[in-house]
Amino acid sequence: MSFLLAIDQGTTSTRAIVFDRAGRNRGSAQQELPQSYPASGWVEHDALRIWQDSLACARGALRAAGIEASQVAALGITNQRETTVIWDRASGLPIAPAIVWQDRRTAEFCAAHAGRSDWLADKTGLLLDPYFSATKIAWLLDQVPGARPRAEAGELAFGTVDSWLLWNLTGGRVHATDASNASRTALFNIHSQQWDEELLAFFRVPRALLPEVRDSAGDFGVTDADLLGAPVPVRGIAGDQQAATVGQACFAPGMTKSTYGTGCFLVLNTGSQCLRSRHRLLSTVAYRLNGRPTYALEGSIFVAGAAVQWLRDAVHLIQSAGETEALARSLPDAQGVYLVPAFTGLGAPWWDPQARGAIFGLTRDTGLAHIVRAALESVAYQTRDLLDAMAADGVRPNELRVDGGMVVNDWLTQFLADALQVPVLRPRVTETTALGAAFLAGLGAGVYGSLEEIAALWEQERRFEPALPGEQADRLMAGWHAAIARVRSGTP
Ligand code: G3P
Repeated sequence: MSFLLAIDQGTTSTRAIVFDRAGRNRGSAQQELPQSYPASGWVEHDALRIWQDSLACARGALRAAGIEASQVAALGITNQRETTVIWDRASGLPIAPAIVWQDRRTAEFCAAHAGRSDWLADKTGLLLDPYFSATKIAWLLDQVPGARPRAEAGELAFGTVDSWLLWNLTGGRVHATDASNASRTALFNIHSQQWDEELLAFFRVPRALLPEVRDSAGDFGVTDADLLGAPVPVRGIAGDQQAATVGQACFAPGMTKSTYGTGCFLVLNTGSQCLRSRHRLLSTVAYRLNGRPTYALEGSIFVAGAAVQWLRDAVHLIQSAGETEALARSLPDAQGVYLVPAFTGLGAPWWDPQARGAIFGLTRDTGLAHIVRAALESVAYQTRDLLDAMAADGVRPNELRVDGGMVVNDWLTQFLADALQVPVLRPRVTETTALGAAFLAGLGAGVYGSLEEIAALWEQERRFEPALPGEQADRLMAGWHAAIARVRSGTP
């Protein structure tokens, strides 16, 4: 029996799962990751803690599965993307806290260079936004005393979280990343599949900092024997949204998945064709196998599950996320109440960092259930905006595979189908991100011979058909857009 071990290092938690060859979860371990908000718009993580938690979870998952590391055919890593770590190659210690993808501290630089947006998008498929790694790297090199000359001298290393974990897992022997993670740095030319000298010069990032870019399935070295009890080959790496695309077996052009965690990330496979969005979606590398990239269009929404967390932790309207389903069902509709969760600005397709959240349509009989329902509905409306942007770019998915913590909510998943007017498919295994990393590792280790073999393992648990007439969905969307118009910056 060959087992696969996946480390899934996410924004708010770290987990590891042992899967068997059929993709069944055999044991897992998880730890919450503390968040640090040292200034307005700043978000940081302790990179050492990320490494220690990942190792502890990997050990815990092996224990939970009742297996030894020697029984693991390969390890796969998947990770929160864009988050930036710089460390000292000699000591292995980070030079500063990791700057998290949500961090907006470089917004001023991005606004000042807005004229370079098209140039950047042509090369990277991305927008000039603080979201991506490049401006975060430059910020660290400028602000940490002595960092820039040390980086130029080759004494420091940069990595997204995958590289940082790989470096530690291999005892500092391998400094590498995969093409899907590289494609989120804004330094990687997604057409030539190489670090781009012009981008490095523009963002003032020395080449000596950067990891080697490899395929998403392949040889990433072997873990130090004493870490897990036996050396384990690392054979797969992908950013978490790309790994979820693999875990959902979205391998054919047109296939689409949407993951509902803190935020929501809709990814549409565009095959060997790198589509340039005209509607402010991102073009990105879904995965690269045997040197050949598969591209995707991505819509990124910053707040999905985080809206429910807000209801629970900030305004205390609910005590647990599980209550939202019954509250939403208790009403025939939200009666004109809209909640726009633009807590950290709006992501795709609006990209408005200054927008802020709001609730509209309150009347004397508006109650808690309306607000909760409006928060859930906002997740579906935001997804519909992404799907419509994709359609305007010439690709309309005819069904959507969903995963992530929120889709256990049957009401929400049905409302998604209603708002989107396409069938929504929920898989049997919803830990799709970790599963995708395990699949890639299995592919890299020869446990699977092809993507077709992996696709055959994907199983649907339930299919939600649209039940709302199209005109009603359009009417709800018109109300949503009126609400969006009112929260956008520059709008009174
Ligand atoms: O681009 C950011 C994304 O990779 C974060 O995902 O699931 O850790 O919130 P998650």
